[in-house]
Amino acid sequence: MLNAQSKPNLLVARAIFPEILEKLSDYFVLETNQEDRIFPSQELVQRLQGKFGMLCTSSAKVNSELLNACPELRIVSTLAVGYDNFDLAACSEAGVLATNAPDVLNETTADFAWALLMAAARRVTESEHWLRAGKWEKWSIDCFLGADLHGSTLGILGMGRIGQAVARRSIGFGMKVIYHNRSRLGPEIEDASNNAEYVSKQDLFAQADHLVIVVPYSPEAHHLVGAGELAMMKPSACLVNVARGGIVDDVALIAALKEKKIAAAGLDVFENEPRFHPDFLELENVVLTPHIASASRKTRLAMAHRAADNLIAAVSGRMPLDLLNSASLRKSALSL
Ligand code: DGY
Repeated sequence: MLNAQSKPNLLVARAIFPEILEKLSDYFVLETNQEDRIFPSQELVQRLQGKFGMLCTSSAKVNSELLNACPELRIVSTLAVGYDNFDLAACSEAGVLATNAPDVLNETTADFAWALLMAAARRVTESEHWLRAGKWEKWSIDCFLGADLHGSTLGILGMGRIGQAVARRSIGFGMKVIYHNRSRLGPEIEDASNNAEYVSKQDLFAQADHLVIVVPYSPEAHHLVGAGELAMMKPSACLVNVARGGIVDDVALIAALKEKKIAAAGLDVFENEPRFHPDFLELENVVLTPHIASASRKTRLAMAHRAADNLIAAVSGRMPLDLLNSASLRKSALSL
Protein backbone atom coordinates (compact mmCIF):
# COMPACT_ATOMS: atom_id res chain seq x y z
CA MET A 1 0.00 0.00 0.00
CA LEU A 2 1.30 3.50 -0.84
CA ASN A 3 0.83 6.61 1.28
CA ALA A 4 -1.53 9.28 -0.02
CA GLN A 5 1.20 11.62 -1.33
CA SER A 6 2.99 8.96 -3.32
CA LYS A 7 -0.10 7.45 -4.92
CA PRO A 8 -0.13 7.97 -8.68
CA ASN A 9 -3.30 8.61 -10.66
CA LEU A 10 -5.17 5.82 -12.42
CA LEU A 11 -8.04 6.00 -14.88
CA VAL A 12 -10.45 3.09 -14.57
CA ALA A 13 -11.97 3.64 -17.99
CA ARG A 14 -14.99 1.36 -17.66
CA ALA A 15 -17.33 0.30 -14.87
CA ILE A 16 -15.89 -2.38 -12.64
CA PHE A 17 -16.74 -4.36 -9.52
CA PRO A 18 -16.55 -2.27 -6.31
CA GLU A 19 -14.08 -4.68 -4.67
CA ILE A 20 -11.61 -3.98 -7.50
CA LEU A 21 -11.89 -0.23 -6.95
CA GLU A 22 -11.28 -0.79 -3.26
CA LYS A 23 -8.19 -2.88 -3.96
CA LEU A 24 -6.79 -0.35 -6.44
CA SER A 25 -7.45 2.58 -4.15
CA ASP A 26 -4.73 1.30 -1.78
CA TYR A 27 -2.20 2.08 -4.52
CA PHE A 28 -3.73 4.75 -6.74
CA VAL A 29 -5.83 7.87 -6.72
CA LEU A 30 -8.69 6.72 -8.91
CA GLU A 31 -10.76 8.40 -11.58
CA THR A 32 -13.63 6.02 -12.24
CA ASN A 33 -16.43 5.61 -14.75
CA GLN A 34 -19.09 3.60 -12.94
CA GLU A 35 -21.73 4.93 -15.34
CA ASP A 36 -19.80 2.94 -17.96
CA ARG A 37 -19.84 5.49 -20.74
CA ILE A 38 -17.41 4.67 -23.54
CA PHE A 39 -15.19 7.74 -23.82
CA PRO A 40 -14.66 9.10 -27.35
CA SER A 41 -10.93 9.14 -28.18
CA GLN A 42 -10.52 12.90 -27.52
CA GLU A 43 -12.13 12.59 -24.13
CA LEU A 44 -10.06 9.53 -23.28
CA VAL A 45 -6.88 11.49 -24.04
CA GLN A 46 -8.10 14.34 -21.88
CA ARG A 47 -8.93 12.05 -18.97
CA LEU A 48 -5.54 10.36 -19.23
CA GLN A 49 -3.64 13.61 -18.62
CA GLY A 50 -1.52 13.20 -15.50
CA LYS A 51 -2.39 9.50 -15.23
CA PHE A 52 0.22 6.84 -14.48
CA GLY A 53 -2.01 4.08 -15.76
CA MET A 54 -5.29 2.98 -17.23
CA LEU A 55 -7.41 -0.07 -16.52
CA CYS A 56 -9.54 -0.67 -19.60
CA THR A 57 -11.36 -3.14 -21.80
CA SER A 58 -11.21 -3.74 -25.53
CA SER A 59 -13.16 -0.52 -26.11
CA ALA A 60 -10.09 1.69 -25.45
CA LYS A 61 -7.91 2.07 -28.55
CA VAL A 62 -4.32 2.66 -27.49
CA ASN A 63 -2.28 3.85 -30.48
CA SER A 64 0.60 6.26 -31.12
CA GLU A 65 -1.77 9.21 -31.37
CA LEU A 66 -3.10 8.58 -27.88
CA LEU A 67 0.33 7.75 -26.46
CA ASN A 68 1.95 10.88 -27.89
CA ALA A 69 -0.78 12.96 -26.29
CA CYS A 70 -0.39 11.27 -22.87
CA PRO A 71 3.32 11.49 -22.01
CA GLU A 72 2.85 10.62 -18.34
CA LEU A 73 1.14 7.30 -19.05
CA ARG A 74 3.25 4.31 -17.96
CA ILE A 75 0.96 1.29 -18.16
CA VAL A 76 -2.24 0.22 -19.90
CA SER A 77 -3.92 -2.86 -18.48
CA THR A 78 -6.86 -4.52 -20.21
CA LEU A 79 -9.02 -6.96 -18.32
CA ALA A 80 -9.57 -8.96 -21.53
CA VAL A 81 -7.32 -11.68 -22.89
CA GLY A 82 -7.62 -10.16 -26.38
CA TYR A 83 -5.47 -7.06 -26.86
CA ASP A 84 -6.05 -6.17 -30.50
CA ASN A 85 -6.99 -2.66 -29.28
CA PHE A 86 -3.37 -2.09 -28.19
CA ASP A 87 -0.70 -1.08 -30.71
CA LEU A 88 2.11 -2.89 -28.92
CA ALA A 89 4.87 -1.42 -31.08
CA ALA A 90 3.62 2.08 -30.29
CA CYS A 91 3.42 1.21 -26.56
CA SER A 92 7.00 -0.07 -26.61
CA GLU A 93 8.19 2.99 -28.50
CA ALA A 94 6.56 5.19 -25.86
CA GLY A 95 7.94 3.07 -22.98
CA VAL A 96 4.39 2.20 -21.91
CA LEU A 97 3.82 -1.25 -20.43
CA ALA A 98 0.85 -3.13 -21.86
CA THR A 99 -0.77 -6.04 -20.06
CA ASN A 100 -3.77 -8.33 -20.59
CA ALA A 101 -5.64 -10.90 -18.48
CA PRO A 102 -5.08 -14.38 -19.87
CA ASP A 103 -5.80 -17.88 -18.48
CA VAL A 104 -8.47 -17.04 -15.93
CA LEU A 105 -11.21 -17.14 -18.59
CA ASN A 106 -10.19 -20.28 -20.49
CA GLU A 107 -12.62 -22.72 -18.93
CA THR A 108 -15.59 -20.34 -18.83
CA THR A 109 -15.10 -19.36 -22.47
CA ALA A 110 -14.78 -23.01 -23.49
CA ASP A 111 -18.03 -23.79 -21.64
CA PHE A 112 -19.75 -21.07 -23.63
CA ALA A 113 -18.37 -22.26 -26.96
CA TRP A 114 -20.08 -25.55 -26.16
CA ALA A 115 -23.30 -23.79 -25.19
CA LEU A 116 -23.34 -22.10 -28.62
CA LEU A 117 -22.40 -25.29 -30.43
CA MET A 118 -25.12 -27.30 -28.73
CA ALA A 119 -27.70 -24.56 -29.22
CA ALA A 120 -26.84 -24.19 -32.93
CA ALA A 121 -26.61 -27.91 -33.72
CA ARG A 122 -29.80 -28.82 -31.84
CA ARG A 123 -31.66 -25.65 -32.85
CA VAL A 124 -32.38 -24.60 -29.27
CA THR A 125 -33.06 -20.89 -29.73
CA GLU A 126 -34.80 -21.34 -33.08
CA SER A 127 -37.26 -23.86 -31.62
CA GLU A 128 -37.76 -21.75 -28.50
CA HIS A 129 -38.69 -18.71 -30.60
CA TRP A 130 -41.19 -20.88 -32.48
CA LEU A 131 -42.68 -22.25 -29.25
CA ARG A 132 -42.95 -18.76 -27.73
CA ALA A 133 -44.71 -17.58 -30.88
CA GLY A 134 -47.48 -20.10 -30.09
CA LYS A 135 -46.78 -22.31 -33.12
CA TRP A 136 -46.50 -25.66 -31.27
CA GLU A 137 -49.62 -27.75 -31.92
CA LYS A 138 -48.39 -31.34 -31.83
CA TRP A 139 -45.34 -33.53 -31.44
CA SER A 140 -44.06 -34.60 -34.82
CA ILE A 141 -41.28 -36.86 -36.00
CA ASP A 142 -39.43 -34.21 -37.96
CA CYS A 143 -39.90 -31.27 -35.63
CA PHE A 144 -36.62 -29.25 -35.57
CA LEU A 145 -34.33 -32.05 -36.65
CA GLY A 146 -30.76 -31.09 -35.87
CA ALA A 147 -27.30 -32.57 -35.99
CA ASP A 148 -25.68 -34.87 -33.42
CA LEU A 149 -22.55 -33.74 -31.69
CA HIS A 150 -21.66 -37.09 -30.11
CA GLY A 151 -19.54 -39.23 -32.37
CA SER A 152 -18.87 -36.37 -34.81
CA THR A 153 -15.62 -34.64 -35.78
CA LEU A 154 -14.94 -31.34 -34.03
CA GLY A 155 -12.69 -28.87 -35.83
CA ILE A 156 -10.89 -26.18 -33.83
CA LEU A 157 -9.29 -23.20 -35.52
CA GLY A 158 -6.74 -21.77 -33.08
CA MET A 159 -5.50 -24.27 -30.52
CA GLY A 160 -4.35 -21.98 -27.73
CA ARG A 161 -5.42 -22.43 -24.14
CA ILE A 162 -9.12 -21.84 -24.87
CA GLY A 163 -9.03 -24.12 -27.91
CA GLN A 164 -7.48 -26.86 -25.78
CA ALA A 165 -10.19 -26.41 -23.14
CA VAL A 166 -12.84 -26.75 -25.89
CA ALA A 167 -11.12 -29.94 -27.10
CA ARG A 168 -10.98 -31.50 -23.62
CA ARG A 169 -14.74 -31.14 -23.27
CA SER A 170 -15.28 -33.21 -26.43
CA ILE A 171 -14.03 -36.36 -24.70
CA GLY A 172 -17.40 -36.81 -23.04
CA PHE A 173 -19.12 -36.60 -26.42
CA GLY A 174 -16.93 -39.31 -27.95
CA MET A 175 -15.79 -36.92 -30.67
CA LYS A 176 -12.73 -36.88 -32.85
CA VAL A 177 -10.80 -33.58 -32.71
CA ILE A 178 -8.90 -32.02 -35.60
CA TYR A 179 -7.27 -28.60 -35.37
CA HIS A 180 -5.36 -26.00 -37.29
CA ASN A 181 -3.02 -23.54 -35.65
CA ARG A 182 -0.06 -21.37 -36.66
CA SER A 183 2.15 -24.19 -35.44
CA ARG A 184 1.58 -27.77 -34.43
CA LEU A 185 1.31 -28.45 -30.68
CA GLY A 186 3.57 -30.85 -28.80
CA PRO A 187 2.39 -34.48 -28.49
CA GLU A 188 1.57 -34.17 -24.77
CA ILE A 189 -0.77 -31.21 -25.43
CA GLU A 190 -2.37 -33.00 -28.38
CA ASP A 191 -2.92 -36.09 -26.18
CA ALA A 192 -4.49 -34.00 -23.41
CA SER A 193 -6.71 -32.30 -26.00
CA ASN A 194 -8.62 -35.50 -26.83
CA ASN A 195 -5.80 -36.76 -29.08
CA ALA A 196 -6.26 -33.76 -31.33
CA GLU A 197 -4.90 -34.22 -34.83
CA TYR A 198 -3.14 -31.35 -36.61
CA VAL A 199 -4.47 -30.80 -40.15
CA SER A 200 -4.12 -28.15 -42.85
CA LYS A 201 -6.56 -25.25 -42.82
CA GLN A 202 -8.23 -26.69 -45.92
CA ASP A 203 -8.68 -30.15 -44.36
CA LEU A 204 -10.02 -28.55 -41.19
CA PHE A 205 -12.85 -26.86 -43.07
CA ALA A 206 -13.53 -29.86 -45.31
CA GLN A 207 -13.47 -32.58 -42.65
CA ALA A 208 -15.01 -30.96 -39.55
CA ASP A 209 -18.61 -31.80 -38.78
CA HIS A 210 -18.59 -28.72 -36.59
CA LEU A 211 -16.07 -25.91 -36.27
CA VAL A 212 -15.14 -23.72 -33.30
CA ILE A 213 -13.08 -20.58 -33.92
CA VAL A 214 -10.78 -19.48 -31.12
CA VAL A 215 -7.94 -17.59 -32.87
CA PRO A 216 -6.85 -14.20 -31.50
CA TYR A 217 -7.51 -11.24 -33.78
CA SER A 218 -4.61 -9.68 -35.64
CA PRO A 219 -4.51 -7.91 -39.02
CA GLU A 220 -3.26 -11.22 -40.51
CA ALA A 221 -6.32 -13.02 -39.09
CA HIS A 222 -8.74 -10.55 -40.67
CA HIS A 223 -11.35 -12.53 -42.66
CA LEU A 224 -9.43 -15.72 -42.07
CA VAL A 225 -12.83 -17.34 -42.59
CA GLY A 226 -14.46 -16.02 -45.75
CA ALA A 227 -16.62 -17.28 -48.61
CA GLY A 228 -13.92 -19.70 -49.80
CA GLU A 229 -13.53 -21.38 -46.41
CA LEU A 230 -17.28 -21.52 -45.80
CA ALA A 231 -17.76 -23.17 -49.23
CA MET A 232 -15.41 -25.96 -48.14
CA MET A 233 -17.56 -26.84 -45.11
CA LYS A 234 -20.14 -29.61 -44.98
CA PRO A 235 -23.75 -28.44 -45.50
CA SER A 236 -24.63 -30.12 -42.19
CA ALA A 237 -21.89 -28.28 -40.27
CA CYS A 238 -22.24 -25.66 -37.53
CA LEU A 239 -19.74 -22.85 -37.02
CA VAL A 240 -19.09 -21.22 -33.65
CA ASN A 241 -17.08 -18.02 -33.11
CA VAL A 242 -16.07 -17.03 -29.58
CA ALA A 243 -12.85 -15.29 -30.68
CA ARG A 244 -13.22 -11.82 -32.17
CA GLY A 245 -15.30 -10.07 -34.78
CA GLY A 246 -13.40 -9.62 -38.04
CA ILE A 247 -11.93 -13.13 -38.10
CA VAL A 248 -15.07 -14.28 -39.92
CA ASP A 249 -16.31 -12.27 -42.90
CA ASP A 250 -19.84 -11.67 -41.60
CA VAL A 251 -21.31 -10.84 -45.02
CA ALA A 252 -19.98 -14.14 -46.40
CA LEU A 253 -21.31 -15.98 -43.36
CA ILE A 254 -24.77 -14.46 -43.75
CA ALA A 255 -24.80 -15.60 -47.40
CA ALA A 256 -23.66 -19.12 -46.42
CA LEU A 257 -26.38 -19.37 -43.76
CA LYS A 258 -29.07 -18.00 -46.09
CA GLU A 259 -28.14 -20.38 -48.88
CA LYS A 260 -27.79 -23.29 -46.40
CA LYS A 261 -24.19 -23.86 -47.46
CA ILE A 262 -23.68 -24.58 -43.76
CA ALA A 263 -26.43 -25.63 -41.36
CA ALA A 264 -26.10 -23.11 -38.55
CA ALA A 265 -23.84 -20.80 -36.57
CA GLY A 266 -23.39 -19.72 -32.97
CA LEU A 267 -21.83 -16.27 -32.68
CA ASP A 268 -20.70 -14.34 -29.64
CA VAL A 269 -18.60 -11.80 -31.57
CA PHE A 270 -19.24 -9.71 -34.67
CA GLU A 271 -17.65 -7.25 -37.03
CA ASN A 272 -18.32 -3.71 -35.79
CA GLU A 273 -20.01 -4.92 -32.62
CA PRO A 274 -22.21 -3.84 -30.96
CA ARG A 275 -23.61 -2.61 -34.32
CA PHE A 276 -23.56 -6.02 -36.00
CA HIS A 277 -24.92 -6.74 -39.48
CA PRO A 278 -28.75 -6.49 -39.30
CA ASP A 279 -29.26 -9.43 -41.68
CA PHE A 280 -28.26 -11.79 -38.87
CA LEU A 281 -31.58 -10.94 -37.23
CA GLU A 282 -33.47 -12.25 -40.25
CA LEU A 283 -31.89 -15.69 -39.99
CA GLU A 284 -33.34 -18.53 -37.92
CA ASN A 285 -30.24 -20.73 -38.17
CA VAL A 286 -27.97 -18.55 -36.10
CA VAL A 287 -27.65 -18.20 -32.33
CA LEU A 288 -26.58 -14.67 -31.39
CA THR A 289 -25.12 -13.56 -28.06
CA PRO A 290 -23.63 -10.19 -27.02
CA HIS A 291 -19.93 -11.03 -26.41
CA ILE A 292 -20.54 -12.85 -23.13
CA ALA A 293 -18.42 -15.99 -23.49
CA SER A 294 -16.34 -15.10 -20.42
CA ALA A 295 -19.27 -13.68 -18.51
CA SER A 296 -19.63 -15.81 -15.43
CA ARG A 297 -19.46 -13.67 -12.30
CA LYS A 298 -16.51 -15.61 -10.95
CA THR A 299 -14.51 -15.31 -14.16
CA ARG A 300 -15.21 -11.65 -14.84
CA LEU A 301 -14.11 -10.92 -11.28
CA ALA A 302 -10.95 -12.97 -11.80
CA MET A 303 -10.22 -11.06 -15.03
CA ALA A 304 -10.60 -7.76 -13.23
CA HIS A 305 -8.34 -8.91 -10.37
CA ARG A 306 -5.73 -10.02 -12.87
CA ALA A 307 -5.77 -6.62 -14.59
CA ALA A 308 -5.59 -4.84 -11.23
CA ASP A 309 -2.69 -7.05 -10.10
CA ASN A 310 -0.74 -6.10 -13.22
CA LEU A 311 -1.17 -2.41 -12.37
CA ILE A 312 -0.25 -2.95 -8.73
CA ALA A 313 2.89 -4.87 -9.75
CA ALA A 314 4.03 -1.99 -11.96
CA VAL A 315 3.43 0.69 -9.34
CA SER A 316 5.23 -1.46 -6.76
CA GLY A 317 8.31 -1.82 -8.97
CA ARG A 318 7.62 -5.46 -9.88
CA MET A 319 7.27 -6.99 -13.32
CA PRO A 320 3.57 -7.38 -14.21
CA LEU A 321 2.72 -11.05 -14.68
CA ASP A 322 1.09 -10.45 -18.05
CA LEU A 323 3.45 -7.97 -19.69
CA LEU A 324 2.83 -8.13 -23.46
CA ASN A 325 5.66 -5.88 -24.63
CA SER A 326 8.89 -6.52 -22.80
CA ALA A 327 10.49 -4.15 -25.36
CA SER A 328 8.76 -1.33 -23.49
CA LEU A 329 11.06 -1.91 -20.53
CA ARG A 330 14.05 -0.51 -22.37
CA LYS A 331 12.35 2.87 -22.68
CA SER A 332 10.13 2.74 -19.63
CA ALA A 333 10.64 5.31 -16.92
CA LEU A 334 9.78 2.56 -14.41
CA SER A 335 12.58 0.73 -12.66
CA LEU A 336 11.16 -2.77 -12.51
C1 DGY B 1 -11.52 -11.24 -24.01
O1 DGY B 1 -11.10 -11.43 -22.86
O2 DGY B 1 -10.80 -10.96 -24.96
C2 DGY B 1 -13.00 -11.35 -24.16
O3 DGY B 1 -13.34 -11.40 -25.51
C3 DGY B 1 -13.68 -10.19 -23.47
O4 DGY B 1 -13.36 -9.03 -24.18
